[in-house]
Amino acid sequence: MDNRPIGVFDSGIGGLTVVNALAKVLPDEAIFYVGDTARVPYGNKSEKSIQQFSYEITNWLIQQDCEIIVVACNTVSSIALQELKNQFSLPIIGVIDPVVNHAIISSRNSNIGILGTQATIKSDAYQKCIMSINSKINIVSQACPLFVPLVEEGWVSGKVPLSIASVYLEKIKNTNVDTVILGCTHYPFLKNVINKVLGNKIQLVDSGESTAKIVAALLHHKKLLTDKHQGGIRCFVTDDPKSFDAFAIKFLNRKILKTNIIDLF
Ligand code: DGL
Repeated sequence: MDNRPIGVFDSGIGGLTVVNALAKVLPDEAIFYVGDTARVPYGNKSEKSIQQFSYEITNWLIQQDCEIIVVACNTVSSIALQELKNQFSLPIIGVIDPVVNHAIISSRNSNIGILGTQATIKSDAYQKCIMSINSKINIVSQACPLFVPLVEEGWVSGKVPLSIASVYLEKIKNTNVDTVILGCTHYPFLKNVINKVLGNKIQLVDSGESTAKIVAALLHHKKLLTDKHQGGIRCFVTDDPKSFDAFAIKFLNRKILKTNIIDLF
């Protein structure tokens, strides 16, 4: 048994979708969440910067005595996960493997769509992961860079997100894709809009639930589960804790402890 916290991080607020899923599956565990709100978005940054930022955050979470690191950010999972695993010895889980497995099981016709940031799509990390499991799967991918600022602005319904989504999703809509991976922390907040454009026949899968299940199984397997109720989500950001709290309260329906600001650089 181990009472140390689970460390989770993302470039900003979006990773709270993964925290939400973790807290549901592991209600007794303490969760420390870092959102790098001073440097978000990562999706249009260079590989070198993304690797540097994720190294700094992982290092900080380890200093807080976290027992495992969950990389909630798809961009970091695409570009820096292996590097982090090489640099640190504790278990580090990304979001790509869990959601890819979920998508492959969910698809009936082996045609899968991937939506993500520019950096995620350019990295081909999702394609490589899918191909390593089943090379016969047909993949259509699409970067949707305006989705992140829309969510950050709280603009998740109405005409504007709908028309932006219609343009981004046109290519996928005209294929046989039956399952679409929401390969970015922010996209689950736009699920209704994406669903409206793509229609009910296409299933949308996101990384929260599948990643939480893998983390729970790993903690169980490594005997790292807590033996008492620690509970509680403690959030740390690199800028503007007030906006972060306002977002968390509006979108998560979950109580978080007061957000603190931290100095990483
Ligand atoms: N967290 C990022 C991701 O999941 C989205 C926001 C960003 O570009 O930093 O890819």
